[in-house]
Amino acid sequence: MSLTVQNLHALEILDSRGNPTVMVRAELSDGTISGAKVPSGASTGAHEAHELRDGDRTRYGGKGVRQAVENVHNILAPALRGMSADDQFALDRRMIELDGTPDKSHLGANSILGVSCAVARAVARSRGIPLWRYLAGGRPAVLPVPMVNILSGGLHAGRNFEIQDFQALPLRLSTYAEALEAVASVHRAVRAVLEKRGCIPNGVADEGGWGPRLPSNQTALDVMLEAIGYAGYRPGEQVAIAVDVAASHFYSNGRYELHSEGRSLTSGDLISLLAEWAARYPIVSIEDGLAEDDWPAWAVLTEKLGGKIQVIGDDLFATNPGRLERGIRERVANAVLVKMNQIGTLSETFQVIDRAREAGFRAVISARSGETEDDFLADLAVASGAGQIKIGSITRSERLAKYNRLLEIENGGEVAYAGSPKHIGPPAKVDKRPD
Ligand code: PGA
Ligand code: ZN
Repeated sequence: MSLTVQNLHALEILDSRGNPTVMVRAELSDGTISGAKVPSGASTGAHEAHELRDGDRTRYGGKGVRQAVENVHNILAPALRGMSADDQFALDRRMIELDGTPDKSHLGANSILGVSCAVARAVARSRGIPLWRYLAGGRPAVLPVPMVNILSGGLHAGRNFEIQDFQALPLRLSTYAEALEAVASVHRAVRAVLEKRGCIPNGVADEGGWGPRLPSNQTALDVMLEAIGYAGYRPGEQVAIAVDVAASHFYSNGRYELHSEGRSLTSGDLISLLAEWAARYPIVSIEDGLAEDDWPAWAVLTEKLGGKIQVIGDDLFATNPGRLERGIRERVANAVLVKMNQIGTLSETFQVIDRAREAGFRAVISARSGETEDDFLADLAVASGAGQIKIGSITRSERLAKYNRLLEIENGGEVAYAGSPKHIGPPAKVDKRPD
């Protein structure tokens, strides 16, 4: 008997910043019920799918999602009822049609993604298989290398310094559990290093990393380097550094404003600075090194660093198949950050992951700064075969839900860890720009 969608129920819940977000529960024709919770970004890109918020300032400062919830009940549920639950592509297509806008602003990417994920999870449950196995289809499932947030700046930490995210990335460890242990000890070591420098970190930033005031952006790299050594690892050999510059968020009128340092940089200046850092520190990955629409400068950055390190587009690509296609064509970046809610359906997320693989780009499966305790992302990362995941820090339970789910999957013994050069650093096949 075919498995169909019976009913969809949504509700407004809270994310890790205490802002409303959407939860959807899907009921299938065999009585299986399962749910999914939608994340939400802070340093959102201009080209992301639309997160529908009520705008009623008397509730949660306008951030309520009751309309998105109603759209699930009144529009999506009746339209999807009776459709095959395991034809994810058809379900997602139908929701895209019902929305009818290029950015899902009519029904809201938050309501659509909630349905997309809830139905997939219900199918996996109905079949009695782990979610990652259902999602993988024919893809090569692999446990991802964790890129773990250690020091936060920018919009995630009250603009203490501009660069958003300094991460530790474990290299050449044979299991995911060992990799997690290594980065957890770097996280702890950073506290000691900061205190030694007379900088007491009070509390943590949005993704659970330390959010201290530092004299300059570059100091964060010095702190990282020192902490990796302090934790007993060889920098660059056992633990490397990844940086999310999130440059769109300090870009204004054609310049990159490092207010905390009183410096204003051109695209060329910023590229030189990043190249200098990449030469001086054990950096293996730079994300959003430039603003989301600074395409010509992105090509220069990629030409300069793309053969040596991973150059990731986050706001640049916004998990959008069209923008990724442009990046592949114009040889901009060599990796894509994948955030489900930037595009709003599971099928389009996989479209981006699969196209990246085909084009020789790497993909990093990523959480948002506003998350929930949902661990869907861990299964998605394993299923995608991408080999890298970025969830935030190893404190705060909305992050740990995913880290711990990966431990559980590793413990199941069916999936191997990706900690090989095949999955880290610049893609093996880096196209040269035509001369
Ligand atoms: P966001 O940050 O979820 O606030 O967009 C994460 C990132 O920039 O990678
Ligand atoms: Zn980013």
